[in-house]
Parts: sequence; structure tokens; C-alpha cells
Amino acid sequence: MEQQELRALYAETVPYLLQWYDYNRRILPWREEPTPYHVWVSEIMLQQTRVEAVKGYYDRFLTRLPDIAALAAAEDEELLKLWEGLGYYNRVRNMQKAAHVIVEQHGGEMPADYEKLRALPGIGDYTAGAISSIAFGLPYPAVDGNVLRVMSRIACSEEDIAKEQTKKKLKEDLTTILPERVGDYNQSLMELGAVVCLPNGKPLCGQCPVVHLCRAFQAGREMQLPVKAAKKERRIEKRIVYLLSCDGRFLLHRRKPEGLLAGMWEFPNVLELEGISEGKVPEGTLAVTKRKKAKHIFSHVEWHMEGLWMEAEQSDGGVPERLIAMMCRLTGEKEPAAEEDGWIFASPEEIKEKYPMPSAFEAYCKEVYNENRNRL
Ligand code: ADE
Repeated sequence: MEQQELRALYAETVPYLLQWYDYNRRILPWREEPTPYHVWVSEIMLQQTRVEAVKGYYDRFLTRLPDIAALAAAEDEELLKLWEGLGYYNRVRNMQKAAHVIVEQHGGEMPADYEKLRALPGIGDYTAGAISSIAFGLPYPAVDGNVLRVMSRIACSEEDIAKEQTKKKLKEDLTTILPERVGDYNQSLMELGAVVCLPNGKPLCGQCPVVHLCRAFQAGREMQLPVKAAKKERRIEKRIVYLLSCDGRFLLHRRKPEGLLAGMWEFPNVLELEGISEGKVPEGTLAVTKRKKAKHIFSHVEWHMEGLWMEAEQSDGGVPERLIAMMCRLTGEKEPAAEEDGWIFASPEEIKEKYPMPSAFEAYCKEVYNENRNRL
């Protein structure tokens, strides 16, 4: 389609989408009082996570960290605990880095300026556009996967939405047609994508306020669009996860400060290389009492885990150190220099309340909590 015709088509959607949004938008906590901080927190949480899953996290986060100053001052461990289960923990680490910059360079207030927002850690075009438009009413588009899908269908475009060039062109086109109510218009596109113009060939065209403008619908192409090139396959890692308990407490290990799940706590685990099974069950008197398999999908890796339960008796005071040394040998981790440096025996209560554990271990955490309940 010619650029001019395309932009005219996008412009035609504005009144229909705004009216639809006024009557159909979902009541969401961050829409009650869309301050820059609220919009920021919600948009970061909503990246990679569904609205329903985010609601509870959002309320808890804001209760504990009600403003930028509180976010800047939060302890690392608390921050990760508040984010536990949302995944992609660098999102919250970057938020805290950005909070420091805002306190130091912008007087503690988010700048009402797209470029300055864009320059903050963890804030890309999408988030800068969302905050600029929703919180400040500034004329910037906010193009996420939902918006790409909606607009590809309206235009009946065969461009690959996984390409940066496709996104860039859509941002340019949208910038020319943004209405006064830019925050509502941007959100109407996201909202339409989330509840009507659904992905994977399931659009609810009968409920769509712009079906009469939709070129994909007119061409019968709505099920095939948008075009999205397949991502590279994820690498699969088999891991042995050790649930070693001693007097009702479980051994935890703190991950390195960089890389995947940086700085989070975990049950000790080790990559199982194909065909090598020695070393998987520890030597000595510790017997494996239970096995359980679990899977976790990260963006580039899948963990296929096998949990091995083992119980040790604390018959003398030296047992925990020996167990830690044994676990270091099994997992290839360095033995701690100081006592309990990066290694700790934690009660199920502490695992739940205090130590940030990645969702990858959720299945095992649940078993540990249940075990605790059965004991009481
Ligand atoms: N997804 C991400 N941000 C959103 C928003 N502000 N409204 C609806 N869905 C969203």
C-alpha cells in the first residue's frame, strides 16, 4: 500500500478506537492513577508477562516501594523478592539503576521528555513511548507486539513483524497520525490486541470496532497475518537439582553476580552432560529419597530438571560444612572461603519469605513448602 494511503487508513481508526476504548477498557490498577512512576512499573512488568499475572505483583510492589526514592533505596534482596516469579530479573535491576539516575540527575522526578526517558537503563523505545504518551500526553507511539499485529492486519501487510525495520516504519507512520488523546489511543491499540485482535489465528473479528476498515479481514487473510519469522530454537539443558535437607532446612546456593539469574538463590544444581551420570548421586550414606522432574523455559534455554531429595541427620556440629563441601564437588562450584559464604541452610519459611528464588525452581519450592505443612 502507498504510504499516504496507509497513513490515511491508520488515521481513520482513531475515532473508532478511542470510543471503543472509552467503553471497553479493562479496569486495571495502573489505569486508576497513571503517574509516570505507576506507568513505568506497570509497563516493565507487562513485558513478557500477562496482565492477569501482573496485577498482584503490581499492587505489592507499589505498597512496598510507593515512589522512585523508595525504589532507589531498596535492598537488592527485597527487590528480587518483590519480582520473584515475574522472571527476567534484569528488568527490576535496571529499574533500580534508572531510579538512581532519576534521583541524581532529574531531581527525583521522571523527566517529561522522551529522549531523557529513552536514555535511562532498561527503557527502550516502547517504554519511553508508553510513559511519554500515557503519563505526560506527549505525542509518541508505543509499539509492542500487540500493536504490530493489529496494524499489520488493518493494513493487510505481509512484512515480517520480527524485523526491526517493520517496527521502525510503523513507528514513523503512527507518529504522523497520533491524536490529542495519544495515551488513550496507544492503549486502545494494545488493548485491542490483547482482547480482540488475538494472536495465533484467533482474532475475534465480530467484536472489533475497526473490522470495517481492516484490509486483512476484507481479504480473508486475518488468520494468516501477521507474518512473523520463527525464532532460533532454544538450547535444552538437562540439570540435576539437589534438595538436600538437614534437620528440616534445605541447602541453598547464591548464584554469581552476573549472567542468567544473577545473584538469586537456588537449590544447588549441575548440568548433566549426555552420557555422564557418575557424580549425580552423592557418595557416602546419603540416600536419594525422592525424584521429581520439572521443566522451565527461559528465552534462550530450556531447563529439563530432575530433582533428587536427600536427607542428612545433624548428629554433630560439623555436618553442614561437610555437606556444603560435598555439594561443591558435585556441582563444580568453588568451596566457600568464609563460613556460609554464598551457601545457607534455610527453612521452608525462609525460602518463601526471605531468599529470592527464580521461578525455574517453583515446582521444587512447592514441594518443600508442602513438606513443611505436613510436618506441622
Ligand atoms: N500491555 C502492555 N501495556 C499495556 C497497557 N498499558 N494496556 C494494555 N495492555 C498492555
